[in-house]
Amino acid sequence: MGIIGGSGLSRYPELVVSDVVVLDTPYGKPSAAITIGKLGQSEVAFLPRHGDNHAIAPHKINYRANIHALSQLGVTDIIAVAAVGGITADFGPGALAVPDQLIDYTYGREQSFYSDDFSVDKHIDFTWPYTESLRQNILQAATTKQLKVIAGATYGAVQGPRLETAAEIRRMAQDGCDMVGMTGMPEAYLARELELNYATLAVVANWAAGIAEGELTMQQISETLVDGIDNIRLLIAGVIAL
Ligand code: HPA
Repeated sequence: MGIIGGSGLSRYPELVVSDVVVLDTPYGKPSAAITIGKLGQSEVAFLPRHGDNHAIAPHKINYRANIHALSQLGVTDIIAVAAVGGITADFGPGALAVPDQLIDYTYGREQSFYSDDFSVDKHIDFTWPYTESLRQNILQAATTKQLKVIAGATYGAVQGPRLETAAEIRRMAQDGCDMVGMTGMPEAYLARELELNYATLAVVANWAAGIAEGELTMQQISETLVDGIDNIRLLIAGVIAL
């Protein structure tokens, strides 16, 4: 199991660490050293997406190196933790969701492992961008841990690092997005290219721009994330124990 930590989850103290590995890949270096250890009975590999000190902006993350490095370690399943802004009614601050669809609004990111080595068989199916069995495992863990988790949602992946305008969020709502985040793509597709199981576990940090009154501040976002991330840890422990 691989866990990619997002905003608010750059360390995983409950891991019983056996190794910390600095990897290189044909695509460059991952965001940070990967911590390998036991969570319950399972071995997991933890990688903070934004680096150890959240110093890597969403559009600068080497998504290819991150996914390749986890694959090199023998990871077969990735739970990608993501802080998001909530757009539709049920997606208020603190809500947890396991999206089943996405729309990609990012640009200029390396989208494929096959950019320089393409062939017709590398147009890979992405109808359902998340692995359904892994999504179901998270939802089952939510039942066991008695945590409310929204069972399906559309994740809108934006470029960042800026937050959105109110009009952008109105458009995303019209498009059918329930939540907005900056790191969901191309991460999900790269996992698909390497045939890894991949699911996103999203925690809503704030109402997206223009939905609630006032300005969005990172302080407010970080405060909401503290409780949300605790619930995410509980859920991941539940998935591991299944
Ligand atoms: N927009 C984009 N990404 C985010 C947000 C947001 O409002 N909140 C947390 N990540």
